[in-house]
Amino acid sequence: MELSLEEILQKTKNVVIKAGEKVKEAFKSREIINSSVEDKESNPTDLVTAVDKEVENYIFSSLKVLFPSFLLVGEETVSASESKKVILTDTPTWVIDPIDGTMNFVHGFPFVCICVGLVVKKEPVLGIVYNPILDEMYTGIKGKGSFMNDKKLPLIQNTPLKSLQRCLFITEYGYFLGQNELDIKVANAKSMLSLPSQVRSLGSCAMDMCQIAKGSADFYFEIGIHTWDLAAATVILRESGGVVVGYKRPKGIDNSIQIADEPFDLNGRKVLCIRGVIEGKEYQSKMLGEVRERLKDCEIESD
Ligand code: IPD
Repeated sequence: MELSLEEILQKTKNVVIKAGEKVKEAFKSREIINSSVEDKESNPTDLVTAVDKEVENYIFSSLKVLFPSFLLVGEETVSASESKKVILTDTPTWVIDPIDGTMNFVHGFPFVCICVGLVVKKEPVLGIVYNPILDEMYTGIKGKGSFMNDKKLPLIQNTPLKSLQRCLFITEYGYFLGQNELDIKVANAKSMLSLPSQVRSLGSCAMDMCQIAKGSADFYFEIGIHTWDLAAATVILRESGGVVVGYKRPKGIDNSIQIADEPFDLNGRKVLCIRGVIEGKEYQSKMLGEVRERLKDCEIESD
């Protein structure tokens, strides 16, 4: 029997809620957190905890039972694999980040979420982003809208975007990738600050994207994110009327295609998003173009 995406969402949401109980329990206990941080000697700014691994295992094993024919990709299993690559095919594939915002989790900064996205033919079609600390459950299904705690997104009907100076940007610096990448990230933040405008950082790519989906901020951009950070949130943001693209026009895409209609490479490690606007796609393309022009790009190995 073929399940509808709504049925899949319902079953998966129950798994994510249970996983959320584990994350919340650990978040409340400094003892659990302090004893669970694992040193990645290769990069001390890219943390992993035993809780990340336990939650990923729990979600993997639960989804395997519920949807035996679907493939699974998770942050911790990919990081531990030899190829370190995210393989997306035509087969439905769960893309999971057990804790997005691990550094926040370790410090008790409450922007921490579980991300579970379903990708079919390389397109994200269903997404769940759950912050059990703030009790915010974001869900989205391609073509069916997105919601926070069952309220339709966007929650905030913002005024039209008039000029970049009035905009609220979000960006992140992520973990240390190298001096060149750091200089570019800082230059990009500076470029928006000197518009002048204001820039925020929550420390979780998925939480940032959900703010854009809510309508609480206008743009989000980041270099260095991974497929599991954004697969689920991409559906949620798009279904709220927002747009998710890369830093550059993808190769082979005709110039007549508006930016807002460009395809997005989930494995490309760079993201630029804009919230839904009442003026529509033409206007989103114009604003995205203005922001993209200000963003410096750099080479980075894809997932
Ligand atoms: C990180 C967070 C952070 C972003 C990094 C991500 P993780 O994910 O989303 O905000 O800046 O690029 O890697 O490691 O906490 O799952």
